[in-house]
Amino acid sequence: MSGAGLAVQGLSVGYGPVRALRRVSLEVPEGAVVTVLGGNGAGKSTLLRAISRTLSFHGGAVTEGTVALDGRRLDTLAPDRVVAAGVCQVPEGRQVFARMTVADNLRAGALGGGGPGRAQALDRVHALFPVLAERANQRAGLLSGGEQQMLAVARALMAAPRVLLLDEPSLGLAPLMARRIADTVREINAQGTSVLLVEQNAALALRLATHAYVLEVGEITLSGPAGELAASDEVRRRYLGVVDEDAAADAETTGARTLTRWEG
Ligand SMILES: Nc1ncnc2c1ncn2[C@@H]1O[C@H](COP(=O)(O)OP(=O)(O)OP(=O)(O)O)[C@@H](O)[C@H]1O
Ligand SMILES: [Mg+2]
Repeated sequence: MSGAGLAVQGLSVGYGPVRALRRVSLEVPEGAVVTVLGGNGAGKSTLLRAISRTLSFHGGAVTEGTVALDGRRLDTLAPDRVVAAGVCQVPEGRQVFARMTVADNLRAGALGGGGPGRAQALDRVHALFPVLAERANQRAGLLSGGEQQMLAVARALMAAPRVLLLDEPSLGLAPLMARRIADTVREINAQGTSVLLVEQNAALALRLATHAYVLEVGEITLSGPAGELAASDEVRRRYLGVVDEDAAADAETTGARTLTRWEG
């Protein structure tokens, strides 16, 4: 990869004997929103864990490949150093500290940062999510599901990341709340943070992203500009729920799976 950004090269991951990723390569150029689509068990969360170096907490390990930010290797670092390097993950299932207050959850996200940057980060998340300022002293477990997702994203932003890794932020949310989260992702990106968004909600993800990858059983099977993927018959049929008999028949017989190559 030539420019600045996050680069994953030939990454393979196993959980013991289970191979979860096979030679996965992808790029998140500086300032971009990139999405990885895939069904249950495709390896989406595994990919984010491999980047954030949290795989070992789940009994997994990288067996080959590299991850780099602006050419600097991340795959040799401890998880806290990855955060310090500017890459922060919002894990699946909006894991907030339920018994801690909203304010303490945010403080926990800033650990390792601190200083004047912390006050700035807090201002930023309160501007993005005013409800978190209103509920600062409430226990996080009492927030609604959507508000907890906002808190999970806000906590990651407290570390002022350059790249935000988002694991299915819309999962289980009502359409209106999912749309609000999507608007916020757009806003976060407009403020200069790159985003790697993992989603089963392909329609939402393809609207947000500039580029997209499809992950199937641990391998990237399709990639290209988000608009092209959204228009592709195979993606429409498999991920956007569009039923089109002719397109379905075509997709069965076409071997070509890579759309316009994306030159970062
Ligand atoms: N902690 C683990 N131990 C063993 N195998 C695991 C573990 N976590 C995931 N796997 C396996 O690795 C593969 C990829 O799982 P992963 O959770 O990355 O998929 P996913 O795309 O995030 O799925 P979902 O959409 O359901 O969250 C699956 O076969 C899964 O069973
Ligand atoms: Mg997952």
